[in-house]
Amino acid sequence: MQQKIIILDFGSQTTQLIGRRVRELDTFCEILPYNKYPEDDSEVIGVILSGSPYSVHDPEAFKVDLSRFVGKVPVLGICYGSQYISYANGGKVEKTDSREYGRAHLQTVDTANPLFKGFEQHSQVWMSHGDTITAIPEGYECIASTADVKYAAFAKKSPTDGSKGVWAVQFHPEVFHTLQGSLLLKNFVVGICGSRQQWSAASFIDTTVAELKQQIGTDRVILGLSGGVDSSVAAVLLNKAIGSNLTCIFVDHGMLRKNEFQQVMDDYRGLGLNVIGVDASEKFFTDLAGVTDPETKRKIIGRDFVEVFNAEAKKITDARWLAQGTIYPDRIESLNITGKVIKSHHNVGGLPEEMHLKLCEPLKWLFKDEVRRVGRQLQMPEQLISRHPFPGPGLAVRILGDITPERVRVLQDADDIYIRSLREYKCDDGDILYNKVWQAGAVLLATVRSVGVMGDERTYENPVALRAVTSTDAMTADWAHLPYDFLAKVSNEIINKVKGVNRVCYDISSKPPSTIEWE
Ligand code: XMP
Repeated sequence: MQQKIIILDFGSQTTQLIGRRVRELDTFCEILPYNKYPEDDSEVIGVILSGSPYSVHDPEAFKVDLSRFVGKVPVLGICYGSQYISYANGGKVEKTDSREYGRAHLQTVDTANPLFKGFEQHSQVWMSHGDTITAIPEGYECIASTADVKYAAFAKKSPTDGSKGVWAVQFHPEVFHTLQGSLLLKNFVVGICGSRQQWSAASFIDTTVAELKQQIGTDRVILGLSGGVDSSVAAVLLNKAIGSNLTCIFVDHGMLRKNEFQQVMDDYRGLGLNVIGVDASEKFFTDLAGVTDPETKRKIIGRDFVEVFNAEAKKITDARWLAQGTIYPDRIESLNITGKVIKSHHNVGGLPEEMHLKLCEPLKWLFKDEVRRVGRQLQMPEQLISRHPFPGPGLAVRILGDITPERVRVLQDADDIYIRSLREYKCDDGDILYNKVWQAGAVLLATVRSVGVMGDERTYENPVALRAVTSTDAMTADWAHLPYDFLAKVSNEIINKVKGVNRVCYDISSKPPSTIEWE
């Protein structure tokens, strides 16, 4: 039987991080809205309550009936979760002067309590709370304090009736700045909840392949490949489960990176995938001619993509399933804290209804880094696994102004020099610079021209902007501090080799307020 930890989300920004930390302990977990605790799920071995933007005293604060799981499985409350445990059991939570934001140190810590096993005295923790717990409920004991906060952690006194315990921490064990946070979570998940730590890439592959075989049987499945890691890993898993009953479709809209279509097709064929490559670039270029507005470009590309994909998919008349590389964060983002869908799940428009296809999403429980781990375990080529994210509309959203095949060629050449150089540049730790950034790409400012001089000639050409960001989920991003010698070399090579470009700039904007892509 699979074991799982349930993380109830009260709307904290770090809820996903709790999930990742639990997964790092090779333990499966599900993040659910605070009010969606599952009925009768025998796989649950523990519950974690997240933080929240609310105070327990706010009229709109999220409240949960703790009796649904307290006593039945071990419970850990974090920040708001800990305040709620106190509040709901007769303790006191108040606005006081002892608010804490940022770094703090545990002044006393009860290392005899299983939650703090192995903890050092004065361990650094990360706090972020306005309200403070001023009294803990009866039957509970304080197990850690800081200089300012008496109840930095508390726990139910060892139950004698065989019921499971309750722990609560005011600080955030999931963040990096709580230096022994991973140990605390390990103590809870493994020591207290009894996780066997059997969730691994290898076990995921075995169970998923078995499930896919059972779910799909001898049906035929269609999958849209993008060249990115998610759809590629989904395809390889399905291929392992159902072999040639999987047909993959890879559409070339003409705005991929230089030579990418061919390279990726070769990679896919090398993996034994049954893949149809469709060169539809002419249709896209025709429909995009003269269009400069970013949203209109996106809409045209989205519409054309669906048309081309659907036309190809319909040729596979006996298909019963549409597979997608949807990953867990895509689905968590789809829920806000009240459980309502705020962003509809991306999908190949219309096709499932029209062809009566059922959806198959083999990666729907995985975080991005786990998808990569699964890909490596499946022995997929490293260039496919570690590839940076690339937007669906491709270079179209990296050309300011209207799109022509010539402009795409110019940008492809500049981008190719940039990405190749990132792959060639060795950092001090031996890794390549490419692996140090989340995403990189060149942008052609086709609406801007500036004066330059080359040899004895005056030039009046376009600039190229280089973009590279660090990020963990693309929701926020910082510009990457690429070495000057690297930037100098790339700039020089682009201006010398790419006809039509006489200036190179480096984008030093973070997200927010900018976005990663320029359009
Ligand atoms: P922004 O520009 O919104 O990008 O900061 C965030 C991440 O999303 C990617 N992106 C897209 N991916 N279709 C996609 O599949 C799109 O239309 C699209 N637009 C942006 C972008 O490359 C970055 O990783």
